[in-house]
Amino acid sequence: TILIVDFGSQVTQLIARRVREAGVYSEVAPFQSAEEAFDRLKPAGIILSGGPASVTLDHSPRAPQRFFEAGVPILGICYGQQLMSRQLGGNVIVSGDGGEFGKAYVEVKAPCALFDGLWATGERHQVWMSHGDKVDAIPPGFTPVATSEGAPYAIVADEARRFYGVQFHPEVVHTPDGGKLIANFARRVCGLAGDWTMAEFRAAKIAEIRAQVGDAKVICGLSGGVDSSVAALLIHEAIGDQLTCVFVDGGILRAGEAEQVVSLFRGHYHIPLVHVEAQDLFMDGLAGVTDPEAKRKFIGKTFIDVFEAEAKKIGGADFLAQGTLYPDVIESVSFTGGPSVTIKSHHNVGGLPERMNMKLVEPLRELFKDEVRALGRELGLPEVFVGRHPFPGPGLAIRIPGEVTRERCDILRKADAIYLEEIRNAGLYDAIWQAFAVLLPVRTVGVMGDGRTYDHVLALRAVTSTDGMTAEVFDFPSDFLPRVATRIVNEVRGVNRVVYDYTSKPPGTIEWE
Ligand code: XMP
Repeated sequence: TILIVDFGSQVTQLIARRVREAGVYSEVAPFQSAEEAFDRLKPAGIILSGGPASVTLDHSPRAPQRFFEAGVPILGICYGQQLMSRQLGGNVIVSGDGGEFGKAYVEVKAPCALFDGLWATGERHQVWMSHGDKVDAIPPGFTPVATSEGAPYAIVADEARRFYGVQFHPEVVHTPDGGKLIANFARRVCGLAGDWTMAEFRAAKIAEIRAQVGDAKVICGLSGGVDSSVAALLIHEAIGDQLTCVFVDGGILRAGEAEQVVSLFRGHYHIPLVHVEAQDLFMDGLAGVTDPEAKRKFIGKTFIDVFEAEAKKIGGADFLAQGTLYPDVIESVSFTGGPSVTIKSHHNVGGLPERMNMKLVEPLRELFKDEVRALGRELGLPEVFVGRHPFPGPGLAIRIPGEVTRERCDILRKADAIYLEEIRNAGLYDAIWQAFAVLLPVRTVGVMGDGRTYDHVLALRAVTSTDGMTAEVFDFPSDFLPRVATRIVNEVRGVNRVVYDYTSKPPGTIEWE
């Protein structure tokens, strides 16, 4: 295992990815819990990430000093390199010229295990720089092995202790050989085999879940999305019918979703599943609510109420299973200690474990979305589930600006189903991160046959994204949207006009509320 210590870089998750792409297992720990992770994992190597702080300040984050005395190879990236310099007796300064950002070239000055078999002395290679501070004096034992115009210590190495520091970011795609450098560190320097696969992850997680849970009962909120479906399958494989899934239908699901989930999990996998029909409760509570945050809060709270009541009915459970992914984990960690702005209060079953005094089982905590999909395939989850677009917890309710009613949900469900059917028929579903319809509380005049209509406007949205944090508008072939618009206006009563949303994220968000 490689332990990646996170100092708050935006791209730490990419380091973990690169390590896994090298066939080596890694875990990311925020710097605050790095020691605990080190003791638990007994890693064969450590990577110190970049980060927004400045090591020149006394109160900025540090690596535990004992990491440098553990005899374990260490790779410091950007802030990680500066940290290592400072903690081992070198010096770091704030660049007088404001720093170095973007594409740069390093020139190799001496051989180094980090680029052994990859780069030769005298060669120049493209890298990506993004730093304000820089190393000014390297610690005893280190030598510079590559330089750039702005960074005389672009790569430094202490081969005896197997410590390496890079000023640039090898984890981003703009450093073309970066993945290979990280693979070299993991395999050649740390001596790891590079044979890690999803099959191994599956086996290891199953053993881990069994050890954690023993013969206790586990309850899992199943949404039908990829994350909770994969988590439920994996846990069921580990502990069988000690697991019960609860699926709550609040009337805000997509067309056919409830039937699909129930037939797959109950019918096909024989996983104990409670199907709660809570449409009245949700619809009554949503009556008159138009504020997006009020909707989200009501739905989140009501999910928890329903879930708690069902858990009581089945005699309680000691553990709550969640399909939490790594991006969810990292978003909830505050590195500055300061408050971050709530753009939207995301709904999940947060708050439940404390309220019900349950422990958490989160087997997907270290994975990224595409890795969860790979694990789903490994577990034999059907492709329609594995490849499904993300769907928000508050469901259709946040795709109906203004008041949510049963009738509006029905209209939206129909229109959304047509849109998705056309996307699938055109073979575009997998090229899109997320596509959906939004029913607007605006009515416009139309003409159908000889009559005047006065009906709702429907907006269509489709975006590409890698993580949902940023998004680009999907560009359909020119005949596609007119075809969908015609079908929707003809087939869905209540809609007489269709528009397409051309806003990227930022400045827009993916969902409308
Ligand atoms: P936004 O709208 O914030 O969405 O750009 C980013 C991604 O998150 C999804 N989303 C949610 N997922 N609970 C979820 O589980 C939520 O409350 C929620 N709100 C938005 C959204 O669909 C997109 O994939």
